[in-house]
Parts: sequence; C-alpha cells; structure tokens
Amino acid sequence: MAQTLKVNGKEVTVDVDPGTPLLWVLREKLGLLGTKFGCGQGLCGACTVHVNGAATRSCLLPVVAVSGEITTIEGLSPDNSHPAQRAWIEADAPQCGYCQSGQVMACAALLKAKPKPTEADISAAMTNLCRCGTYGKIRKAVQIAVKLNSEGEV
Ligand code: FES
Ligand code: FES
Repeated sequence: MAQTLKVNGKEVTVDVDPGTPLLWVLREKLGLLGTKFGCGQGLCGACTVHVNGAATRSCLLPVVAVSGEITTIEGLSPDNSHPAQRAWIEADAPQCGYCQSGQVMACAALLKAKPKPTEADISAAMTNLCRCGTYGKIRKAVQIAVKLNSEGEV
C-alpha cells in the first residue's frame, strides 16, 4: 500500500503493509535511525516521536493510523539548537545513549504542552526507561531545558 506521510516537514510516500509500525517505516524505509527499538511493546519509550506535537511510541502505531505531522529526533531542530538538545548536552545526560533520542523527544513534547511544568508534570511526562540508569541526569536536563525554553533560547 502506498501511503503519504509528512515527516520532518517533508512529504514522503512509502509502499508498506498498512499494519507496519511507524517505527519501522521511519527506520527501514526512510533511514531515520535516531528513533530506536527497545521493547516493541509500548513500554520503554526508545521509539518516541512526535505525532502532531504529542510524544508517541511509534513501535505500536500502525502506519495506516498515522495522520498529521511526524517529527523525529532528526527533525527537532536544524542544528541541535532545540532547548532540550542543548540541555542534554549541558547536563551530559547520555551514558550508552540508546534511550536518549526518545527521552529528548518526550522532553520536547512536554515543553510544548507545558512550558512551565511542575516537578509532578515532569514525572508524569518522563516515563521513558533507561537501562543505564541516567535518571538523575535526565531530570537535570529537563530542568535546564525548561529554563532555556523560558528564556526563549531556541
Ligand atoms: S520500543 Fe516502543 S516503547 Fe519500547
Ligand atoms: S543511556 Fe543507556 S539506556 Fe539510557
């Protein structure tokens, strides 16, 4: 089945089985390898992308059910200048790095939905798992991202 998607601001047409999870369309058809496969069960968040601005676990989402704009880590900013990306660098958050694209995308969606999140908002939004246990640094990175975002330093 041919399906047209809008990914990182560009329209692309892919020929895939309609039940194919969006994750595999992004990785295997479009070569966007920043979005990772972890559990394949909607649990870990490694596959998080934005669909119409909302953090979405792409491993369980059939491509046929996708409408609207998809943003992956590659499309978050043209030059890694998004507040979340800058905050992740400042906080030196990654260890192995595998989970971190999904973590950054979860944070970016939070900033968009709630520019001034409470600590409880952060806890509710940042549910992605990290096998390296970098949760302390991720928390710090989110707090830095909130500050950078509020300063308008995009
Ligand atoms: S790979 Fe999608 S939630 Fe784990
Ligand atoms: S940095 Fe290794 S899984 Fe999170």
